[in-house]
Amino acid sequence: MLRVENLSKNFPVEFDIFGKPKRFLKAVQDVSFQVEKGSVFSIVGESGSGKSTIARILSGIYNPSSGKIYYEGKILKDAKRIKDIQIVFQDPETSLNPRKTISFIVEEGLLVHRSASRFERKKIVRDAIKSVGLTSDILKKYPHQLSGGQKQRVAIARSLVLKPKLLILDEPTSALDVSVQAQILNLLMELKELYNLTYILITHDLKIVNHLSDQVMVLYLGQIMEMGRCDSIIENPFHPYTKSLIESIPKPGENNLENFSLSGEMPSPLNPPEGCAFQTRCPVAFEKCSKKPPLMNFRGRKVRCHLYNQEV
Ligand SMILES: Nc1ncnc2c1ncn2[C@@H]1O[C@H](COP(=O)(O)OP(=O)(O)O)[C@@H](O)[C@H]1O
Ligand code: SF4
Ligand SMILES: [Mg+2]
Repeated sequence: MLRVENLSKNFPVEFDIFGKPKRFLKAVQDVSFQVEKGSVFSIVGESGSGKSTIARILSGIYNPSSGKIYYEGKILKDAKRIKDIQIVFQDPETSLNPRKTISFIVEEGLLVHRSASRFERKKIVRDAIKSVGLTSDILKKYPHQLSGGQKQRVAIARSLVLKPKLLILDEPTSALDVSVQAQILNLLMELKELYNLTYILITHDLKIVNHLSDQVMVLYLGQIMEMGRCDSIIENPFHPYTKSLIESIPKPGENNLENFSLSGEMPSPLNPPEGCAFQTRCPVAFEKCSKKPPLMNFRGRKVRCHLYNQEV
C-alpha cells in the first residue's frame, strides 16, 4: 500500500549572512519501509528520534529532503496532500482550534476538499461523531468544554470524515490519562476493522504496540536500528537499543535483559556520535562501533549493529 524509499529530512539550523543554510539537523536519515494494506505498522523510538518528521512528510506537511514515497504503486509528489492519508496528532489540546465548535472542526476537512453537499456533510459529521463513541450534543460545544479523551475522539472523527484508507496516528494516546489510553486504543482498533483502515502507529512506548502491531520499526537519531515482525522483535530483540526499550517496560516475574536498562540521554541530533548512533549508551559497544554499521538483513529482520554484521 505504502512504500517509502531512502527518505531523509534535514532541517536547516544555521544560515550564513546571505540566508543560505550552512548547518543542518539530520532528523531522518535514509529510512525505507513498506506498509501492507490492512496492517498496523508501528514506528517506535524516544522523543527526538524523527517519528513525527516521518509522519509529517507522509501526510504532506513537510517535503522530504530526499527519497521517494509510493502510494498504491504511484509515486507521491512532494507535499501533495491526498485524502486517503490522514493524520491524528499527539495532543488534541493544540490540534483542535479552541475558537471553533466541534461541528465546524469535524466538518472542516470536507469543506476544504469540497466533497459533499451541506446536507450530506452534516450527516457525515453526525455519523463520524457517533462512530467514535460520542453523542451529537457535543457538536455545539467548544474544545475547552471536553475532556482529553473526548477531544482525541473528536480529532479521530475529524480525520474519518474524509474516508481515509491510511491513518497516521502520531502518539495518539500519550497526552491522555492512563485510564483513557486503553479506551482510545480499543476504539482505534474497532474503527480499523469497521472501515478497513491501515495504520501507521507512532509511539515512544513499545508496550503500546505489543499485541496491536504487525510490523515495527525502531528509530534512533533518525536511523532505523531494527525492523521486522512486531511479535518476534518483542519476544527476541536483536539490537541493543531495542533490548533497552523492552527492558524499560515494567513486567512481573523473570527479567533476562537486565543488563540492557536504558541509561543516559540521547545525544543531540545536531551533534550525533560518529559511527554507531547508539554507541554512547550501548552496554556492549566495542571498537568497531566507532564506524557506522550498515542496515543488514538478519533472520528476516533489518538490524543496524556490528554484532549482526553477516546477512543471515
Ligand atoms: N521544523 C523543525 N525545524 C528544526 N528541527 C526540527 C523541526 N522539526 C523537528 N525537528 C528536530 O528533528 C528531530 C526529530 O524530531 P521529531 O520528528 O519531532 O521527533 P519525535 O517525533 O521522534 O520526537 C528533533 O531533534 C527535532 O528537534
Ligand atoms: S554497533 Fe556497537 S554500539 Fe552500536 S548497537 Fe551494536 S554493539 Fe552497540
Ligand atoms: Mg513526535
